[in-house]
Amino acid sequence: MDCAMTQLQITAFGDPSVLKLTPSLDKVPAQGEVRVRICFAGVNPIDAKTRAGLGWAAAQNKDKLPWTPGYDVAGVIDKVGPGVTSLKEGEPVCGMVGFPLVGGAYAESIVVNERELVKLDGVSLKQGAALPLAGLTAWQGLFEHGGLKRGQRVLILAGAGGVGHLAVQFASAYGAEVVVTASKENHGFLHGIGADLMVDYHDADWAAQVGLVDLVLDLMGGESGKAALACVKPGGQLVTVPTITAQLIKDAGSALGIQVSGMLVHPDSKQLAQMLILLRQGDAHITLAGEFALAEGALAHRAIEAGHVRGKLVLRMPGAERYPA
Ligand SMILES: NC(=O)c1ccc[n+]([C@@H]2O[C@H](COP(=O)([O-])OP(=O)(O)OC[C@H]3O[C@@H](n4cnc5c(N)ncnc54)[C@H](OP(=O)(O)O)[C@@H]3O)[C@@H](O)[C@H]2O)c1
Repeated sequence: MDCAMTQLQITAFGDPSVLKLTPSLDKVPAQGEVRVRICFAGVNPIDAKTRAGLGWAAAQNKDKLPWTPGYDVAGVIDKVGPGVTSLKEGEPVCGMVGFPLVGGAYAESIVVNERELVKLDGVSLKQGAALPLAGLTAWQGLFEHGGLKRGQRVLILAGAGGVGHLAVQFASAYGAEVVVTASKENHGFLHGIGADLMVDYHDADWAAQVGLVDLVLDLMGGESGKAALACVKPGGQLVTVPTITAQLIKDAGSALGIQVSGMLVHPDSKQLAQMLILLRQGDAHITLAGEFALAEGALAHRAIEAGHVRGKLVLRMPGAERYPA
């Protein structure tokens, strides 16, 4: 039987108080689709930016409100549509869904194409919810866009955040020398997960302390991204991840003859499955800074907007306790 569920929606852009619990009906999966009973949803800065009406996803959605934020889900398959071959009822799964326009993860259930999900085998639902968008961004930034090679030196700006702390672990496991910027309180944490050199971005000479690197993964953008151009070796490059300031940094790079590229993360089930193997084997670990009930999603947005979360935040759905976390 299809039943009622709750989602956290907005009917207008604004501060976190616009997030409201809204009752809805479970959707029925069509050809090739499955319904996931969501246990945890990952929280990402883009959720808060779009809720506030900023960026491309907000511009595209402005005439399509209400909108349910969230792209990272982990939960259990509770209904499969016709023609589904890869997933069965009762299987735990995670994925980056409906990116970048549809969203929908801040909800008790969601219907998605089976291709958007990966089985969670030996990885917890919480870790599965925290991984997809941040992990894929770290992976694609380092390897697809940055072309990182074993033995190279990489600078990760904002190493302690959701994307950063995964990028540190992936780059270190791959055999790169990893330099990060972070506030002093995060230096011990970052050393513990594989960073070789930690530099405090509050120091006026932080870029000089970094020295030269083959690749910068810029997770800050703006003036920090521009300042990091001074760290790029001749022939090196900078990948800037925040989309809003990407053009500014590309222009500054081209004035200095430095290769700068922007990026937009894309779903990739193979990469997600590879990262899940790293988590399962203990070669990477997600630090969870906080867990909020769905009804407290506004608090999670305030925390991510403050800009100093270490690792990731997740939302817990009502009923999540029925499944092992
Ligand atoms: N283009 C894409 O496809 C894409 C995909 C994912 C993310 N993004 C963007 O990438 C950015 C990073 O995402 P995220 O999820 O990692 O964010 P996040 O988790 O919110 O980042 C928080 C971290 O930023 C650090 N930080 C704050 N100010 C800093 C500074 N001036 N220098 C160095 N570190 C600083 C904080 O460390 P301290 O406490 O030590 O200050 C904190 O740990 C966001 O702008 C996000 O929107 C873009």
